[in-house]
Amino acid sequence: MPFMKLIITDDYQESCRVAAEMIRDLIAEKPNAKLGLATGGTPVPIYKNLIEMNQHGEIDFSEVRTVNLDEYIGLDGSHPQSYRYFMDTNLFDHININKANTYVASGIGNAVQNAAILDAKVIENGVPDLQLLGIGNNGHIAFNEAGDHLVACSHIEHLTQSTIDANARFFESKDEVPTTAITMGMRGILSSKMPLLVATGAAKADAIRGLLTNEEITTQNPSTFLKLHSNAVVIIDRELATLVGI
Ligand code: F6R
Repeated sequence: MPFMKLIITDDYQESCRVAAEMIRDLIAEKPNAKLGLATGGTPVPIYKNLIEMNQHGEIDFSEVRTVNLDEYIGLDGSHPQSYRYFMDTNLFDHININKANTYVASGIGNAVQNAAILDAKVIENGVPDLQLLGIGNNGHIAFNEAGDHLVACSHIEHLTQSTIDANARFFESKDEVPTTAITMGMRGILSSKMPLLVATGAAKADAIRGLLTNEEITTQNPSTFLKLHSNAVVIIDRELATLVGI
């Protein structure tokens, strides 16, 4: 694994602290840094760390710009399960960021146009300096699902049953989980200057094994395309590393 940097921490809390410190250091160096951001369970403690750092005067978000990976189709930004709402409530409402400088794709209206706008936002005034990523149990990054092909541009993705099942925990029932989403494509993710993937938990072990223990790139595990990037960073805890066999 010549290019990818692997960080193994004592536990998930430390993983999240390390990720937040990397973001803090980037913004210290580049106050108007552009961050690619993720939703889901994994980044929540990372965002908590960033909020605390902001409150303690360790990070100034006033010039920071952000673009998010994805949004459910059919959910308006005021819907509690929308990713815009997630970002506002888990991060943006608690830091000194200018919300006009944050972008989460719209889940309503013309989805094809919304995907095209997301692609434009990815490159607007420069590509993301850092792209935070979680990973699906099936290896998806953003909502680029495992399958027989991947898509380069931002696009509409039909979520797999594995993803719908995994995300049902955020909804009242499985039936409420949207089945389609707008997602940044593989090009957008790989264009960032530093993809930063954080993973924890046994459910991620197979996907992380595929990412870290061989040189194979496969659409059946989209995360493996990060092997093509010269500056990707992966943070996992010791427990997951042991499960993966590293
Ligand atoms: C979220 C996203 C997804 C999640 C992945 C893992 O914006 O793009 O790829 O990162 O589904 O989700 P969690 O962290 O909930 O396990």
